[in-house]
Amino acid sequence: MSVSRPQPRPTPRPGVLSIQAYVPGKSSAPGVAKVFKLSSNESPLGPSPRAIEAYRRTGEHLEDYPDGSASELREAIGRVYGLDPDRIVCGAGSDDLLNLLARAYLADGDEAIHTTHGFLVYPIATLGAGATPVVAAEKNYTADVDTILAKVTVKTKIIFLANPNNPTGTYVPFDEVKRMQRALPPHVLLVIDAAYSEYVERNDYESGIELVATSENVVMCRTFSKIHGLAGLRLGWMYGPAHVVDAVNRIRGPFNVNLPAIAAGIAAIEDTAHQDFSRAHNRTWLAWLTEEIGKLGLEVTPSAANFVLIHFPTTKGRTAQDADRFLTARGLILRQVGAYQLPNALRMSVGTEEANRLVVQALADFLGSKR
Ligand SMILES: Cc1ncc(COP(=O)(O)O)c(C=O)c1O
Repeated sequence: MSVSRPQPRPTPRPGVLSIQAYVPGKSSAPGVAKVFKLSSNESPLGPSPRAIEAYRRTGEHLEDYPDGSASELREAIGRVYGLDPDRIVCGAGSDDLLNLLARAYLADGDEAIHTTHGFLVYPIATLGAGATPVVAAEKNYTADVDTILAKVTVKTKIIFLANPNNPTGTYVPFDEVKRMQRALPPHVLLVIDAAYSEYVERNDYESGIELVATSENVVMCRTFSKIHGLAGLRLGWMYGPAHVVDAVNRIRGPFNVNLPAIAAGIAAIEDTAHQDFSRAHNRTWLAWLTEEIGKLGLEVTPSAANFVLIHFPTTKGRTAQDADRFLTARGLILRQVGAYQLPNALRMSVGTEEANRLVVQALADFLGSKR
């Protein structure tokens, strides 16, 4: 009897099959008519009406390629933040830029550091580039500079720091980020992922712009998916030293940002009133949710972003999974964060007033407390 041998077939590069594919937040609740999606930190207020209008206008010109260097968008970002547009690169979401940075700076055998509850795209981008993700423990759900520095070796090429971090909402004060940068060997690229920076209202926070401007090994990534409400268009930008910008520009797709995204992005970044409106909504409801959920006896990690991390007991019937089922049955979709080493927590994006009130009432019902 002949034994059939497996046929040789194409094999992905080392690391690729070790990747746990990213699982996006759920967006539906079977059998529930009205669903509130609070699982992906999207803006409950949507984009600026001007961005929607600019997006619509591009419908007349879909046969045209976009400007491959997104010059007008980079100039608009430069005007708003006082930055040199030549030091900005735009991407199809900041995911695109994080992956490009990994591809440009990591090779087989290199290491990239991220923290225990750091954003999941970092290990994915690292493994995809053939390198090894190294995890630095957090303290109190917060990245810790000394622990990160202790993990740096000659193999370390990138440190990914989400500031504030998703899914914890915690942040590292600017003094600490500066201290880390000063202590790093100059060959290590510090990638500050400031996806939620527009929401942060703390005196000791800085998004990364200042550090990029004064050093040769720091890059800051930003997104239009959160406060600008344009997650569906996939748009992000990074600001970095000229040599990093040059490297990323060499490997990015020649038209990596599409026409509607460029048009809507320009209108969005210029509509500072809409950003203020979204920030004010977040300020009110982030504080309210933290307090009201805390009153129910659940621990909420103090957040500087547009979401809260809610911790649940491990008692049967009271767990994060039980709560998730209960909330989903009411059309309230939060995010399970087991993949972030937080099996006993759920992350909730700040939603509309209606959604926020419904979640707090549902949690009270789930826990059997009176409200
Ligand atoms: C920390 C962090 N960085 C980056 C992103 C990705 O943003 P984008 O939609 O621009 O790819 C997210 C989205 O959830 C995030 O939480």
